[in-house]
Amino acid sequence: MSILVLGGAGYIGSHAVYQLIDQKHHVVVIDNAETGHSQAVHPDATFYQGDIREKEFLENVFNKEDIEAVLHFSANSLVGESMQEPLKYFSNNVHGTQVLLETMKAHNVDKIVFSSTAATYGEPEAVPITEDMRTNPESAYGETKLAMEKMMKWCALAYGLKYVSLRYFNVAGARRTGEIGEDHQPETHLIPIVLQTALEQREAITIFGEDYDTEDGTCIRDYIHVEDLIDAHLLALSYLENGGESEIFNLGSNQGFSVKQIIDTARKVTGKPIPAVPGERRPGDPSVLIASAEKAKRILGWQPSRTSIETIIEDAWNWHRNHPHGYDGGVGA
Ligand code: UFG
Repeated sequence: MSILVLGGAGYIGSHAVYQLIDQKHHVVVIDNAETGHSQAVHPDATFYQGDIREKEFLENVFNKEDIEAVLHFSANSLVGESMQEPLKYFSNNVHGTQVLLETMKAHNVDKIVFSSTAATYGEPEAVPITEDMRTNPESAYGETKLAMEKMMKWCALAYGLKYVSLRYFNVAGARRTGEIGEDHQPETHLIPIVLQTALEQREAITIFGEDYDTEDGTCIRDYIHVEDLIDAHLLALSYLENGGESEIFNLGSNQGFSVKQIIDTARKVTGKPIPAVPGERRPGDPSVLIASAEKAKRILGWQPSRTSIETIIEDAWNWHRNHPHGYDGGVGA
């Protein structure tokens, strides 16, 4: 039996594939390589390149492979882009998930672990955010992820689908052994941009707003190491395999760090000056996002072990230093 990983060539999906293979699972990967990298796919995984919206392609994979459960990372995930091109997001994220769920139903595959986001909450009612708080997405991206969750909820009621939806806060870091890491084109995330500045690929990092109602005026986020995040997926998979009911869990560290704290920590870790300049606020950025991950700890038994911001930045730095041009540049290029 195999675990099917959709989006297994992407940043987070590729880490899932490596950790599943560490645990001796047989893994099948589907990725359209639009934002993912075929070089990020573990060599022991069976890789099908294609788009989940193409029903025949997906049917073919389900016919060939003996799939026991699905991990679904396949989505467009840039908040800003989703505001410019919402239909691209509804097509790839929502329609893609519909085709997937239809195919799973036809093949009697009834377990799915789903990659969701803190963006489903929008500006939070309070922090730390618990799963029972109001969802009110402020971006098309967040809206599509919420729609995907809702689609699974109704499929659970009608067809007995079992799902776990994991709402990620800010995922960062890289596999500790350094084979894979974060490589987005273009890069928009804070930690990779800070490290690209440390590598002098950028002159300075622009801080998007220094006038927020926080201690140092910059936005606060909850950063979670990608390996800890994937541990939660593996626990969610076992939970479903042991008969667990469909659930939604936040994944974060219960701690917040400001943009300035991240830059300062990166200066310490890298020993580089990392120039920073003040800039305008980025539209749609909530001031503070911090998860309560108590539910995942209680029900899944999740125990994140690499949550310190120093460890996250050290592992990310190890990847960026050795792959300054990402996958295309090759090691040390
Ligand atoms: N930031 C800067 N300068 C930059 C880049 C980012 O100051 O050059 C700031 C942002 O304004 C924000 C913080 O750094 O305050 C973190 O920004 P990221 O872009 O790294 O992450 P986001 O919090 O915007 O987004 C992340 C995920 C999204 C998800 C969202 C949920 O990347 O997919 O969390 O809130 F939707």
